[in-house]
Amino acid sequence: MSEIERAVAILRRGGLIGFPTETVYGLGANATNTKAIERIFVVKGRPSTNPLICHVADAEVARRYAGEWPEVAQRLADVFWPGPLTLVLEKKPVIVDEVTAGLSTVGLRAPDHPLTLELLREFNGALAGPSANRSNHISPTTAEHVREELGERVDLILDGGPCRVGIESTVLDLTQRVPRILRPGGVSNEEIEEVIGAVEMVSEMGDTSRAAMSPGQMARHYSPRKPAYRFAHADRERVLQEFEADPTARFSVLLIDATVRGVMFPADENRLGPGWKFTLPAAPVAYARNLYATLRLMDEGDADAIYVEMPPNDAEWAAVRDRLLRATRPL
Ligand code: TXA
Ligand code: MG
Repeated sequence: MSEIERAVAILRRGGLIGFPTETVYGLGANATNTKAIERIFVVKGRPSTNPLICHVADAEVARRYAGEWPEVAQRLADVFWPGPLTLVLEKKPVIVDEVTAGLSTVGLRAPDHPLTLELLREFNGALAGPSANRSNHISPTTAEHVREELGERVDLILDGGPCRVGIESTVLDLTQRVPRILRPGGVSNEEIEEVIGAVEMVSEMGDTSRAAMSPGQMARHYSPRKPAYRFAHADRERVLQEFEADPTARFSVLLIDATVRGVMFPADENRLGPGWKFTLPAAPVAYARNLYATLRLMDEGDADAIYVEMPPNDAEWAAVRDRLLRATRPL
């Protein structure tokens, strides 16, 4: 039996699998099986009020689960699927209420990963799948991260290598008169507007009115376990002076550096007392790809706290800023 066949068999009998996508790894179960869905919430420690998105092979399969399939949905799917865009639409009853936390709508997306697309074609259904982390913790971007988060509580983990995008999909609500972005992510609002015209953006984190619109959008999320603080680029020198002057500075710091192309993880000379210095590139795509793995390393080190330099408040950084605003408090 191939790994895909095993995964399909597990899903058919109500089991749970870890699966790769281009954004982050998911924790998957059959979206039409109430018992299997309940297990997802237990394993993640997720509040039952936070709905799950459903993964499908393509738009044709999505139409089997959406109560309505407006023309804008088709246009968006044509351009962005498979890819990091989740469409919120009215749901068909076959998607069990536990998936959508009792809402009449469901989030649907076709993920851009060859292994999972093969799985979805074989499964020929809807795979409910939140990110494969314990609730509110950092999302996993490798199969190893899924093992660290969920271990034996999943029946199988499909290893598809490190995730290319590295942060979650954009969630777009198509049930409103004007489509509304509930969560910025792998597809930018500019890219979406080029296809369907104006969309509403839910304002940047910190605006509390936001929490009510998307049940999962609580302020603290995507968080390291250690206390994590953010600082503006303008405060960088001051923070670095504190970091370098005090060998007992018990924090690690994550910087942005235009001269860095890949990721700079601490070499020995960068290691100052218990604090570690990490550097990510000043390019949003490369930064996003490496963000969660870096935050995990910072969480594992000996430092007591994590300090993160914020990227500029520009549209191209919207998704990264959203995750950092949830992961950290102001310094
Ligand atoms: O990239 C992703 O979207 C990843 C991969 C695994 O596909 N999945 C993911 O799932 O991030 P999760 O459950 O961690 O986040 C889904 C988000 C939550 O913020 C949830 O509240 C929102 O989508 N959501 C899901 N269904 C919704 C609905 N019917 N209405 C409004 N928001 C919804
Ligand atoms: Mg999540």
